[in-house]
Amino acid sequence: MNVSDSELVETLLVDQGYQKVDHPNKSDILFVNTCSIREHAEDKVHSLLGRYNLLKRQNPSMIIGVLGCMAQSLKDDILENKPYVDIVLGPDSYRRLPEILKRHEKDEQSLVDTQLSKYEVYDDLFPRRKDGVNAWVTIMRGCDKFCTFCIVPFTRGRERSRSVEGIVKEVKKAICNGFSEITLLGQNVNSYYYNDKKFPELLDVIAKVDGLKRIRYTSPHPQDINEELLEIMAKHDNICNYIHLPLQAGSNRILKRMNRTYTKENFIELAQKIRTFLPGVGISTDIIVGFPGETEEEFNETLEVMRKVKFDSSFTFKYSPRKGTKAIEYDDQLGEYEKQRRLTKVIELQKFNTALRNQSYVNKVVDVLIEKKSKRNESKWAGRTDSNKWVIFNRLDYNINDIVPVLITKSKGITLYGEITKKVKVA
Ligand code: 5AD
Ligand code: SF4
Repeated sequence: MNVSDSELVETLLVDQGYQKVDHPNKSDILFVNTCSIREHAEDKVHSLLGRYNLLKRQNPSMIIGVLGCMAQSLKDDILENKPYVDIVLGPDSYRRLPEILKRHEKDEQSLVDTQLSKYEVYDDLFPRRKDGVNAWVTIMRGCDKFCTFCIVPFTRGRERSRSVEGIVKEVKKAICNGFSEITLLGQNVNSYYYNDKKFPELLDVIAKVDGLKRIRYTSPHPQDINEELLEIMAKHDNICNYIHLPLQAGSNRILKRMNRTYTKENFIELAQKIRTFLPGVGISTDIIVGFPGETEEEFNETLEVMRKVKFDSSFTFKYSPRKGTKAIEYDDQLGEYEKQRRLTKVIELQKFNTALRNQSYVNKVVDVLIEKKSKRNESKWAGRTDSNKWVIFNRLDYNINDIVPVLITKSKGITLYGEITKKVKVA
């Protein structure tokens, strides 16, 4: 979402005549688009800002701005402790950037706008994108779920969706600009709701746009995945056979404490249903270990769900207390050592499951969208299956953006290796 928001900001500024440079040293204005999801993300921003402060000492007229979630959640701290920051803008205030920069030129006061909006979806702004295969298209913003560990509902505000027409227009523009794949984005992407249109209906409309080879979406909430959505996914070949299904925890008591609105039984049943509707689907997840009060037995239940569902991949996190959320108030917080021990265990189990899932691809032919040259070996392509597996294979005379049939010969780590089977392009 931050990559996509940065593209928006770039559009707003370039349209006003500002020029993008490729290195902080060369710039007169530096914006840091920030994330507050975990302490680690915030730490990275603090150290980056420290470095930019040094640059500003050499170039005192430099303007430094903090954008995004940390601007929202830490504005007082930034204003008080980082006097070299000139501009602080929350995620709903980017339209004001050109005006704010002009005002700053006149009087050099710090300028702050962290007002959240019930309506701002930047519907009429089409972001500038780097060349590539995938274009991010934001379809909704904000979150009303209020999981007790999560800061997003506070930094990004209430859920609101973009018009279907606006989204379709942007998708068509991306295709005209040479993108083959789009990823629909939202903090809670499948809560999309605009003028009686829900997420499955939107997907159905987008899948029919001419020339769109692949559609992905992220991040959904399990609560809003229904049969209608799975049927639409099954119906369209260009909707990728992949679902991100964030579990967070495997114990019903912890799930309730997290306010996740499903039980482990519901979750396992949903994963089975997804596999029935979408054979061969790739399923990934998010897991948090060491949530306040999580006992060893409850942690083991997370491992048990992982063993049952056998996710293709997992994003795994130690619980990070966030100011302003409910979970930080719980008085049974776990220590760092214990969180790390549990994290190591889930990572190990996931490695095993990924190897198992990937092994089932060996000796099969799969369609791969070529995305770039392999980093390790420039004479090979790297691309993804629609189930979201990276594959490295021989180049023949194909190009980036082609979809090609690849025979998988080997699975190693999280990557598959293969050979293009024949010189026939898949439409
Ligand atoms: N601590 C650790 N992980 C978190 N996430 C969200 N908030 C926290 C937190 N406070 C994780 C969740 C979510 C993903 C985007 O980040 O797993 O799905
Ligand atoms: Fe955060 Fe996702 Fe829960 Fe919303 S649904 S509060 S974004 S974890």
